[in-house]
Amino acid sequence: MYEVESHQAEGVNATSISKIDVLLAELDQLQTRFNDALNSATDTEALEQVRLVFLVRKGELAQFFKSLGELDASERPRLGERLNQLKNIFETTFAEKSSALAQPKDDGDFIDLTLPGIRRRLGSRHPLLQVLDEIKSIFVSMGFSIAIGPEAELDYYNFEALNFPPDHPSRDMQDTLYLDLGTEAESQRYLLRTHTSPVQIRTMEKRQPPIRIIAPGRVFRRDTADATHSPIFHQVEGLCVDEGISFADLKGTLQTFAQKLFGPDIKIRFRPGFFPFTEPSAEYDFTCTICRGKGCRTCKGTGWIEISGAGMVDPNVFGFVNYDSELYTGYAWGMGADRIAMLKLGVEDIRMFFDNDVRFLRQF
Ligand code: DAH
Repeated sequence: MYEVESHQAEGVNATSISKIDVLLAELDQLQTRFNDALNSATDTEALEQVRLVFLVRKGELAQFFKSLGELDASERPRLGERLNQLKNIFETTFAEKSSALAQPKDDGDFIDLTLPGIRRRLGSRHPLLQVLDEIKSIFVSMGFSIAIGPEAELDYYNFEALNFPPDHPSRDMQDTLYLDLGTEAESQRYLLRTHTSPVQIRTMEKRQPPIRIIAPGRVFRRDTADATHSPIFHQVEGLCVDEGISFADLKGTLQTFAQKLFGPDIKIRFRPGFFPFTEPSAEYDFTCTICRGKGCRTCKGTGWIEISGAGMVDPNVFGFVNYDSELYTGYAWGMGADRIAMLKLGVEDIRMFFDNDVRFLRQF
């Protein structure tokens, strides 16, 4: 079985091979077997088998220590030295292997839990939408509900039923984006809504007074973008219809809104204006929210910021939706939501809201 024995079998003089030589040769083979076993152990169970066979107190290596007593005293140190050396080698290589097996294999998807983490930024709601949410919740707290309408709209709702005469300048292709739907006649009927006022008509068509709604949404105009203009922007329409509604109600509503959004020192003022769907019509301003009325660059020194238009619903509009204009009155307003968000957040260029540059967005 051992090399030395096969030498014997081939007739080598057995007496010329001393006991110690046999033992040392056997130890060489033990070392080889130990190394093979260790190398082929690929998991901790296999490793434990190696330990049980070679290293424990009754293991193969330990057996050899018993042979020490069978040797001449002069030979013992040689064997003892070799045994101690092997014992050390076995223990160190075993320990190395065992700690190598304990390491997770680096096959690409092991996670080193001790590495510092990678901070992932959380996304957040778009700043414009944050302000829109605030605007909505203020009006909701005042008893208004939220109505929506389509962005691709019929000429009827965007202009006709709002009492725009057929030749009104805002119907001009210069201002309005019409949808190309093949035939010329069809294309003139469909457009991208230029304001949120059509939602007034759609709401009144479906419901009877009392009505109190706001209609936030996106609107479109054929405009060249600059710091204060964008071809896409946002409005919040308001409409209140009931018996006995007056201009004072309109004023109180807008005043309350302005103070809830910007602070109790904010006032509003009305100036005469004209809109086909309101009579009387007004333009309204808020105290400049930047300088609080003192006069600054934003308000061009006036102390006031122009917000939008408002007025009492024109009886002709009630005619389109079959409301009795003898019984009901109502007020309506528009509001530039982007402008309000710019004031609220201190943003000086409306295009920032549409560029979607994360360096801008992550500030809010
Ligand atoms: N729709 C108008 C615009 O886009 C704003 C407006 C003015 C809305 C008066 C109203 C209103 O409801 O009564 O300029």
